[in-house]
Amino acid sequence: MNVNQVSVVPNDDSVEVIENRSLLYDGEDGKRKGNGLSTAYKLAALFCVLVSAAVATVLVVMYPHSQGGPAVNEACSAEIVESIPFNTTGLASGALSTYDAFMTLIDNAQESIDLTALYWTLDSPARNAAKNCTDYYSPDCPDDAHFNKTQLEALGVYQGHNVFVALKRAASRGIKIRIVQSPGLGNGFEEPEALQALSDKVQIRTMDFSKWYRSGIMHAKVWVVDGKHGYVGSANMDWRSLTQTRETGVFIHSCEPVIRDMANIFDSFWEFASLEGHAAEMTRNIIDPHLQIKRIVPCWSHLIDEDKRCKHPFTMFEARTMPVKLNGLSSNVRLSLSPPEICGRDRVTDGNMLVETIESASSNGFVYVSVMDFQPVTRFLCREGVTCPPYEQFYWPSLLHALLGAATGKGADVRLLVSKWWYDSEDAQDVLQKYLEYADIVCNSNASEFRAPCKGSFEVRLIEIPGWYSVQGPDRLYAGHSRVSHSKFIVSDKLVNIGTSNMEWSYFHSTAGVSFNSDNQAMIDQVKHMFELAWNHPNYTHPIWW
Ligand SMILES: *[C@@H]1O[C@H](CO)[C@@H](O)[C@H](O)[C@H]1NC(C)=O
Ligand SMILES: *[C@@H]1O[C@H](CO)[C@@H](O)[C@H](O)[C@H]1NC(C)=O
Ligand SMILES: *[C@@H]1O[C@H](CO)[C@@H](O)[C@H](O)[C@H]1NC(C)=O
Ligand SMILES: *[C@@H]1O[C@H](CO)[C@@H](O)[C@H](O)[C@H]1NC(C)=O
Ligand SMILES: *[C@@H]1O[C@H](CO)[C@@H](O)[C@H](O)[C@H]1NC(C)=O
Repeated sequence: MNVNQVSVVPNDDSVEVIENRSLLYDGEDGKRKGNGLSTAYKLAALFCVLVSAAVATVLVVMYPHSQGGPAVNEACSAEIVESIPFNTTGLASGALSTYDAFMTLIDNAQESIDLTALYWTLDSPARNAAKNCTDYYSPDCPDDAHFNKTQLEALGVYQGHNVFVALKRAASRGIKIRIVQSPGLGNGFEEPEALQALSDKVQIRTMDFSKWYRSGIMHAKVWVVDGKHGYVGSANMDWRSLTQTRETGVFIHSCEPVIRDMANIFDSFWEFASLEGHAAEMTRNIIDPHLQIKRIVPCWSHLIDEDKRCKHPFTMFEARTMPVKLNGLSSNVRLSLSPPEICGRDRVTDGNMLVETIESASSNGFVYVSVMDFQPVTRFLCREGVTCPPYEQFYWPSLLHALLGAATGKGADVRLLVSKWWYDSEDAQDVLQKYLEYADIVCNSNASEFRAPCKGSFEVRLIEIPGWYSVQGPDRLYAGHSRVSHSKFIVSDKLVNIGTSNMEWSYFHSTAGVSFNSDNQAMIDQVKHMFELAWNHPNYTHPIWW
């Protein structure tokens, strides 16, 4: 059997207890590929039972109004936005660009702009001038420093420059700007400080996750403008995120409850960031219940026994599912968040929300994932008492098992699109290949007591943005850290998740991330279309063993 296309359906009584088999599997379909399941699969099936039970419970909580509660149906307007790398064809879906969304948000601001950021490299010309690099290849120089003005313009640096100039205009006209960001990534030229020099209404707080978890970054990208408009998505404050990488986000024009929730999220980060000086006394050593290792977490973490936990030191906001009329369609919206210690009452963690999105696929439905990195092992885990890096690898099956479960347990079509670029981890492809082989064994084993047709599928492909191999050295065509599909989204036939996290343990446990989630059918259709453009691209996308 083709290892890239695994067709599997178990017939496990223990699964049947949870889900109505007769609804999920309407008989033999002639596509039977194997007639049994290995022990490994029995374990996987048990795992699926546990997760399914949890998810069944969560779904009821997520959509209380679909059970007949009072529908609020606030009128909302939002659109999916995307960045398409310059010098590519066939990827653009026709959606508004991230650049246009950012410019509109900034230039229309009347009172305030709140945003979270990992790092800033919007204004390449200003940065290069300030650094005055003579050795362009020195690590002290920006990695676009050696391009001349004509080349930089062709690469699209002007878009980042324009966004930064728009922010400067906003600061100059007295807009209150608050920024929460990771520290120390400015490489000697901090753009937010340049904004601050223009106005005393610009406030910056840095948040060093390594003080709370020993590793981690501010990887959420949330914008809230005037408490009325906003953005959530994968784009960094980087000119490359506008013109050299593929990015996917949501631009919310108006949506009172959702924007209020985004503002609450920003406020929680804003308060969390102010506690940094107390991190030493406000962290605890714990044994992580899942990984069974020692690590450090904030003292209010739910991983600490309730009687030993400290009081949650910043405002917690209620965060229920929001029933809204989104672009005219009755829909539910929910924002999920990581790390868990930033999640207030009823807030679903980002990691759980991704699993839930995958598990939302119906029988014979689909679940498509587009993400830069997908790893079923920990990559940036730093445990207590160990010098990092190097980081340690532990098996972390949550998302992989959810995907395998959707393919094997339901017969859904599962597609995972990951990125190949200059900086990826060398064994990422190998690991994914191994798991495909595992799924293949599961499907084709001949243990006698299990007999079921293989209906679902699980495929993995790599997307390469042309030019990714030319981002280093004197003759490079592109800037370092560019030419990659950096989007992070999941779409099933039931839900869409537009997020900021790579699919690796640390993004859900020690790094800040946020996702916009909805069951809005038009958004599902649109994001599915965006996925298919990339997945079916004849020149950029291919199976992993290619
Ligand atoms: C981008 O494409 C244009 C037009 O095809 C070409 O002239 C230019 O050299 C390309 N730029 C790079 C950096 O490859
Ligand atoms: C793929 O590459 C071929 C050959 O260069 C080109 O003619 C075609 O337009 C490309 N297709 C897309 C969708 O970019
Ligand atoms: C940049 O460096 C050169 C060579 O070291 C020096 O002559 C020049 O004055 C510097 N310019 C600025 C703006 O610092
Ligand atoms: C910029 O660099 C390119 C490639 O080295 C060169 O062909 C071009 O003439 C330069 N342009 C300017 C204005 O220096
Ligand atoms: C399972 O049995 C079928 C039918 O006898 C056979 O074709 C297939 O090779 C077997 N698969 C394995 C993994 O043994």
